[in-house]
Amino acid sequence: MLIDGHGREVNYLRVSVTERCNFRCQYCMPEKPFSWVPKENLLSFEELFLFMKVAMDEGVNKIRITGGEPLLRHDLDSFIRMIHDYKPDIDLALTTNGYLLPEMAQDLKDAGLKRINVSLDTLKPAVASYIAQKNVLAKVLDGIAIAQEVGLGVKVNMVPLKGVNDGEILDVMEFCRERDIRIRFIEYMENSYASSDIEGMHGKEILEIIKQKYTIRQLGREGASPSFNYEIQENGYIFGLIDPHKHDFCENCNRIRLTAEGNLIPCLYFDEALSISESVKAGDIQAAADVLATVLKDKPKENRWSDEDGEGDREVSARAFYETGG
Ligand code: 5AD
Ligand code: SF4
Repeated sequence: MLIDGHGREVNYLRVSVTERCNFRCQYCMPEKPFSWVPKENLLSFEELFLFMKVAMDEGVNKIRITGGEPLLRHDLDSFIRMIHDYKPDIDLALTTNGYLLPEMAQDLKDAGLKRINVSLDTLKPAVASYIAQKNVLAKVLDGIAIAQEVGLGVKVNMVPLKGVNDGEILDVMEFCRERDIRIRFIEYMENSYASSDIEGMHGKEILEIIKQKYTIRQLGREGASPSFNYEIQENGYIFGLIDPHKHDFCENCNRIRLTAEGNLIPCLYFDEALSISESVKAGDIQAAADVLATVLKDKPKENRWSDEDGEGDREVSARAFYETGG
């Protein structure tokens, strides 16, 4: 079992396979980075997998593939198959913007992928074009439908932004309810790479909008999930709120993140990291395990967004989310 320096069990590894993305979301990567990680610095699937085996052998039982946009990495299904073949019972999920799902969903499912989370911030084509800076909505909606058809579990992430999609919170939720999809509203996490034109919504404000139409009941956090769940009394639908500004958000944190170039990042907010690149390139499993132990020991207690009542000045993370897919 992997335990961090604050006594939390870490059983969840998020693996970014590329920082590249075919969208330019306002809250993540509004501008193309000055330079991408050079191809030769990327770890191969075999190298990433060597580390993942160490983590799985020590107790990681949940793996999520992220990006950038993970579906841009060539042969992704072979990587999924490697993980699935090693531990068929592992909870194997992926986070995607959905754009390439129409052509890839079936192969991913066949390779052993169980679940996907898709970003869906709006149902209006023009708003989607504003947020992603590309005309994406039709393909994303198609991707969601096809993923469901092939039998992948689907959840939706929505990041409400003031004056952009805040008027669609109920509509996107309704869209998901009709399709038996769980939606999770994510509070915008302030970061220095995001566009300065946007303003996020505090969880309280999101709930206020829902409460104008429905009566909601708190269900609480599901285990170590970052999502606080609510049930709508009128129809029994359950939705989640990912609220990193809340003081207890980090209490049960069970995760670490690995970037495509081999940096092991202990906390969403902070950009400090240790590299496993040299160890896995040398095939040195013990060295990789040692890096993992150090990262766990030094995992921060909590992020710095914490702003319980939504009225203080928000801290801004200097970390690029596109390196680790949120
Ligand atoms: N704040 C909140 N959510 C974000 N995501 C990306 N950047 C941010 C941010 N700054 C979300 C995306 C996607 C997931 C990978 O992370 O909406 O669903
Ligand atoms: Fe790409 Fe996801 Fe970032 Fe949007 S949020 S730019 S889809 S990595």
